[in-house]
Amino acid sequence: MAFSSFFSSLLLCLLGILLLHGAAVARGCFIMEREALLDFKAGVGDPRNRLSSWTGHHCCTWKGVACDTTTGHVVMLDLRNTNTYEWALRGERMNSSLLALSHLEHLDLSFNDFSGIRMPEFIGSFKKLRYLNLSSTQFMGGIPARLGNLSSLYVLDLYVALDFASHVGSLDWLSHLTSLKHLDLSWLNLTDVPDWFSSVNMLPSLRVLRMPSVGLDTIPASVVHVNFTSSLTVLDLSFNNFHSTLPKWLWNVTSLTHLYLHNSWFYGGTVPRSIVDLRRLEELHMWRNQLIGNLSGWLDQMMTLIVLDLGSNLFNGSLPSSIGKLSNLTELYLSGNHIGGVISEVHFENLTRLQVLDLNGNSITMSIGQSWVPPFQLRFVDLNNCQLGPQFPEWLQFQTQIEALYLADCKITGTMPAWFWNISSSTITDLDLSNNQIEGKLPSFFKFIKLEILNLDSNRFEGPLPIMLPSTLDILSLSNNFFIGQLPTWPYIQSVSLSNNMFDGGLSSSICQWTYLRYLDLSNNKLFGEIPYCLGESLQYLQFLDLGNNHLSGEIPHTIGFLSRLLLLQLKNNKFSGEVPLTLKNCTNLWFLDLAQNNLVGSITLWIGENQQQLVVLRLRSNIFSGVIPWQLTQFQQLQILDLANNNFSGSIPHNIGNLSTMRSTSQYLQFCSYESDVLTKGQDLSYLQCSLQHMKSLDLSNNSLNGEIPKGIGDLAGLKNLNLSRNYLQGKIPWEIGGIKSLESLDLSINDLSGSIPESLSALYSLSYLNLSYNNLSGMIPSGRQLQTFIDPSIYMGNADLCGPPISISCSNNKTAQNIIEEYRKEIPEWLWFYISMVLGYVMGFWTFCGILFLKDAWRHAYFNMIDDIYDRFWVQ
Ligand SMILES: *[C@@H]1O[C@H](CO)[C@@H](O)[C@H](O)[C@H]1NC(C)=O
Ligand SMILES: *[C@@H]1O[C@H](CO)[C@@H](O)[C@H](O)[C@H]1NC(C)=O
Ligand SMILES: *[C@@H]1O[C@H](CO)[C@@H](O)[C@H](O)[C@H]1NC(C)=O
Ligand SMILES: *[C@@H]1O[C@H](CO)[C@@H](O)[C@H](O)[C@H]1NC(C)=O
Ligand SMILES: *[C@@H]1O[C@H](CO)[C@@H](O)[C@H](O)[C@H]1NC(C)=O
Ligand SMILES: *[C@@H]1O[C@H](CO)[C@@H](O)[C@H](O)[C@H]1NC(C)=O
Ligand SMILES: *[C@@H]1O[C@H](CO)[C@@H](O)[C@H](O)[C@H]1NC(C)=O
Ligand SMILES: *[C@@H]1O[C@H](CO)[C@@H](O)[C@H](O)[C@H]1NC(C)=O
Ligand SMILES: *[C@@H]1O[C@H](CO)[C@@H](O)[C@H](O)[C@H]1NC(C)=O
Ligand SMILES: *[C@@H]1O[C@H](CO)[C@@H](O)[C@H](O)[C@H]1NC(C)=O
Repeated sequence: MAFSSFFSSLLLCLLGILLLHGAAVARGCFIMEREALLDFKAGVGDPRNRLSSWTGHHCCTWKGVACDTTTGHVVMLDLRNTNTYEWALRGERMNSSLLALSHLEHLDLSFNDFSGIRMPEFIGSFKKLRYLNLSSTQFMGGIPARLGNLSSLYVLDLYVALDFASHVGSLDWLSHLTSLKHLDLSWLNLTDVPDWFSSVNMLPSLRVLRMPSVGLDTIPASVVHVNFTSSLTVLDLSFNNFHSTLPKWLWNVTSLTHLYLHNSWFYGGTVPRSIVDLRRLEELHMWRNQLIGNLSGWLDQMMTLIVLDLGSNLFNGSLPSSIGKLSNLTELYLSGNHIGGVISEVHFENLTRLQVLDLNGNSITMSIGQSWVPPFQLRFVDLNNCQLGPQFPEWLQFQTQIEALYLADCKITGTMPAWFWNISSSTITDLDLSNNQIEGKLPSFFKFIKLEILNLDSNRFEGPLPIMLPSTLDILSLSNNFFIGQLPTWPYIQSVSLSNNMFDGGLSSSICQWTYLRYLDLSNNKLFGEIPYCLGESLQYLQFLDLGNNHLSGEIPHTIGFLSRLLLLQLKNNKFSGEVPLTLKNCTNLWFLDLAQNNLVGSITLWIGENQQQLVVLRLRSNIFSGVIPWQLTQFQQLQILDLANNNFSGSIPHNIGNLSTMRSTSQYLQFCSYESDVLTKGQDLSYLQCSLQHMKSLDLSNNSLNGEIPKGIGDLAGLKNLNLSRNYLQGKIPWEIGGIKSLESLDLSINDLSGSIPESLSALYSLSYLNLSYNNLSGMIPSGRQLQTFIDPSIYMGNADLCGPPISISCSNNKTAQNIIEEYRKEIPEWLWFYISMVLGYVMGFWTFCGILFLKDAWRHAYFNMIDDIYDRFWVQ
């Protein structure tokens, strides 16, 4: 009985607890709050249904919603998008009914897309809000000042919280957020907030301040008092445009552990010794500024440093050996400064944690004993341009974690030690030993199983190529060495440069198995035989093919037309013969085509035309091409080098040659120069080539059989720097319009049949430094204005019997203008008309004068009798 009553009261008790619990759950979602959340849901786009759990009554269990366990109020709304952009909620309208969540403490909308709507003012009314994360939300408009009401806020993350068209007008509201510990304003546009510092300085508890890339151009050099000196640990002011020296107050912020000032146009002013007051500094990033001075007197005091990046500044002096004390230093970047001196083992004595050593581009000599065992294990080593040699650095054999090793231009000579190809064999991905004098053979099989980039350019390596490469290797560059033998089968390679070696065999079909190949440079070898037919069929990804300066022969295979991605085809200086295959029409992406110095024949009209609109460079010189110059060439919008010299082209120069739009433009900027070709790193060569071409605009049609007149439109090619039309049969006058080619530096019209006077307009070509008009039928006085006065070499004009005036010794007997007029008339007016004029003159001046002239001037006498015949014929016909 007692037992059963105890049991039933226990049951009642349990029931009571259960009921109570049920009541809590029911209370756990206030209807108003649930309605507010549903209104919010109704106002956002949710392409991936992230809010699908937002149904039913128990809103505290909805995804992203959390309630206080005792009061049951919603305190947290965490809708952070942790996935890709497709998962973002899209703001359509944000409903102020959300204000019903009056107990909200934590609001995270980061990485959702609110780009269409303004940042809602009502966010400033969540009085209890402590955490607000609007990172990458891209709201439109500005930041509502009402955010200043959030006096409990301790995290405010506004990283890209506005779209890029919006800018912030004021930060005054910030100063009320006195609890703020973490403030991120990255990528906002604060160009209109010059007094940003005074707002920020009102925040005495600030620990993290991130303001990179906010367009700031002012920073106070000195301030009376810095409020956050004992709290701030992270300060990021990178990627701004301060154009000032480092502000003094920085060194008062002694609590700093991370300081980011890179790429912000700080200049001059040595790093002051007071930097050593930053006794907790672990990371110092000041790369890409214009800071001067040396590293002595302060660096060795910075015992807490873990990362030091001073790259791309103007630091000089030598690296103090006391840097060896910084026992926690892990990453050291000093590349691109003017640091000199000698580095020895002492510099590294206690750097047991060093993993990154980047001294690239200084004038540092590393003098390290061959038996030194380093205290560290490096992962990233960039010592390009440091003098390490003459011997190969033996200490590297103890480095077993290296991922990237750059030792280009380190004055290393002698044989590569055998151990090298075994070190770090499982970690290394990038290896650059170019521009040394290293000798030896490569192993047949590489042990570097993760190698992606291998650059051994410009050394003295010899022997055959490795038979097998790691399947990870994308880029192989072995140019300027002494390699010989056959090209192996490398199935995965993407970029191969073997130029300037000693390959003297046929171009074997094994390269057809390099099916991922995008870049191939075999130029400057002694390869002979034909291009294998399979090349065009197999290398579908090929973008860059350079076989120039070899002894290749036969016809260019028609399969070249299958290479539809080809950007560059360089076949110059070989022995190719026959016609160019019509299929070249299919290579519609070509921007560089050089077939110069071969024995190619036929008309180019067949394979060039509408499809090659991308061409920037077309060089066909020194072949046996014939037929006319196709007018379609003048439609090429990008063409800037057209070289058809030394062929058999006939007919006239296309009359609309002046349409070549790139040559018309004097702008140096060319689209393709910034065009990011995806030809991997070797693409750097490509862009170098592109950009070095940038300044060249040239039209060379010399040594062909062109006739007719020089089209007047040529004067529209104002950007042209070189114009060579010499050694043709061009007739008529030099068009006056030629003075419109303002950029012209070199003009050669020699050995043609040009007549008339030299147009005065030539003297307007201020950049002209080479001129050749010799061996034509030019006449009259040589114009002498401005730029032309600098041409004092008479051979420029030789072979023109009727020219006179300086610099040639024949003087013009009459006045310049009178002489010119007469010369003009001589050439312009047909002889018979001239005869009439004389005849009229003759009647005026007397019969004998006329007869005298008739007697003396043989040509006119003929004209006279021809005229008589002419009149006679006409009468006869009538
Ligand atoms: C919020 O949106 C709902 C419909 O989704 C609407 O009925 C309500 O009036 C809106 N409230 C405010 C304050 O805009
Ligand atoms: C804000 O959210 C982003 C992710 O969406 C996160 O990376 C960042 O750390 C958050 N900011 C703060 C201060 O917690
Ligand atoms: C919030 O700030 C605005 C100005 O930004 C002010 O007018 C308003 O009175 C403030 N509200 C509260 C409750 O502090
Ligand atoms: C920032 O805003 C200003 C106007 O306040 C504007 O002139 C400037 O172009 C903007 N900067 C960027 C990078 O959009
Ligand atoms: C420092 O902060 C306090 C409190 O926020 C403020 O009253 C004072 O004006 C600030 N000092 C300066 C120089 O801004
Ligand atoms: C920096 O600190 C020194 C003393 O350590 C002090 O005299 C000076 O006023 C401080 N400057 C600022 C701007 O806080
Ligand atoms: C080096 O780092 C360790 C933690 O990794 C720390 O305990 C030690 O204090 C640091 N040394 C210096 C000199 O800061
Ligand atoms: C390296 O550390 C040892 C022991 O901590 C010390 O005796 C020596 O002076 C240090 N060397 C340098 C260059 O700081
Ligand atoms: C040229 O391209 C067309 C269509 O892109 C294709 O049908 C044709 O086979 C190609 N010819 C050659 C020789 O590649
Ligand atoms: C020659 O030209 C000069 C000016 O150029 C002029 O003064 C002079 O009269 C001219 N003489 C003749 C004969 O035309």
